Amino acid sequence: MKNWPDNRIQKLFNIDVPLIQAPMAGVDSVELAAEVSNAGGLGSLACTLFSVTQLKDEFKKLRSLTARPVNLNFFCHENPENTETLQEKWKKHLSKYYIELGIDPNASYAATTRAPFNEEYCSVVEELRPEVVSFHFGLPAADLVKRLRQAGCKIISSATTVAEARWLEARGCDAIIAQGFEAGGHRGSFLTDDMAAQVGTMALVPQTVDAVKIPVIAAGGITDARGIAASFFLGACGAQLGTAYLFCPEAKVSKLYLQGLQQTTDDQTVLTNVYSGKPARGIRNRFIEQEGPISEMAPPFPFASPAVNPLRKKSEELGLTDFVQMWSGQSAALGQSLPAYELTKKLAQDTLELLGNK
Ligand SMILES: Cc1cc2nc3c(=O)[nH]c(=O)nc-3n(C[C@H](O)[C@H](O)[C@H](O)COP(=O)(O)O)c2cc1C
Repeated sequence: MKNWPDNRIQKLFNIDVPLIQAPMAGVDSVELAAEVSNAGGLGSLACTLFSVTQLKDEFKKLRSLTARPVNLNFFCHENPENTETLQEKWKKHLSKYYIELGIDPNASYAATTRAPFNEEYCSVVEELRPEVVSFHFGLPAADLVKRLRQAGCKIISSATTVAEARWLEARGCDAIIAQGFEAGGHRGSFLTDDMAAQVGTMALVPQTVDAVKIPVIAAGGITDARGIAASFFLGACGAQLGTAYLFCPEAKVSKLYLQGLQQTTDDQTVLTNVYSGKPARGIRNRFIEQEGPISEMAPPFPFASPAVNPLRKKSEELGLTDFVQMWSGQSAALGQSLPAYELTKKLAQDTLELLGNK
């Protein structure tokens, strides 16, 4: 067994290498998660867009592909009420794009399927018993956390500030994902809305390590071995990588999205709320440029999405990135196009070499 400087994450999750494939709603897959777990890391499956039936079916597939530990991920946002008028206004505002792309602006569209983690999901997860359950946007109610713990699941969640890390530790998390500003996808923030004050990975990780006793996993802009090795020097004992895994053939990334990732540079991603209503980091395109990156018009999360989804779909069909949602961290340019199993093995080996344990 190779020698990692700190093996608390391996012990906690019963895995071989301290690498976590980030859950990525809509673009991860059971194949991606299984290959990462089979390579000794922790594969994750984002479940926020699944119905309970889908959750059961997907987990069954995942279990047929790997017997190793896996992570199921959920959002625990609060669904705001009475957003109908805001949603209507948003749709009306976007109708110019509907007309331009040839979509009927009066056609009805699917409502959001992003349900926060609740009693119903909890009962299913108790049955499925994944080794790890991770959350974004805080934690669910204490009784649900307790039930997951009793089912034997380890519980982790993202913190974007030291205060959030302390909050999560006080509520029983087994480890913290310190999500730096560089990260692709949604900011996991739940105690603050102040995006201008969000902390970079290099600053967040060591301060979080100093503030909590539980293990810290670094996330945000970590795409190759240098970032993973740096995370260990900063005191983390694991790294969670999202964007790096989008280059794997197992990720459900469209051709346009993949091209975007392959062409993007350090300064081409921004935090935007125009797709979902919450700030998330993605590659600039026409929609973000014209409506954002932050729009006052966008209804609160997750209610901006339903009116945008038809534009995303049509834009894909037309081969235009104009409305395609391309979540990405700031280090996509460091991505390597390898199958997930090989990528995980290579990242681990390259990191150990950098850390001096050949
Ligand atoms: C395409 C994409 C989708 C994401 N979706 C989720 C999600 O569903 N749940 C979650 O906890 N984090 C999600 N994230 C955030 C990741 O957990 C992680 O914080 C981020 O990928 C780390 O930054 P990196 O992309 O630079 O590696 C997503 C990130 C990306 C890039």
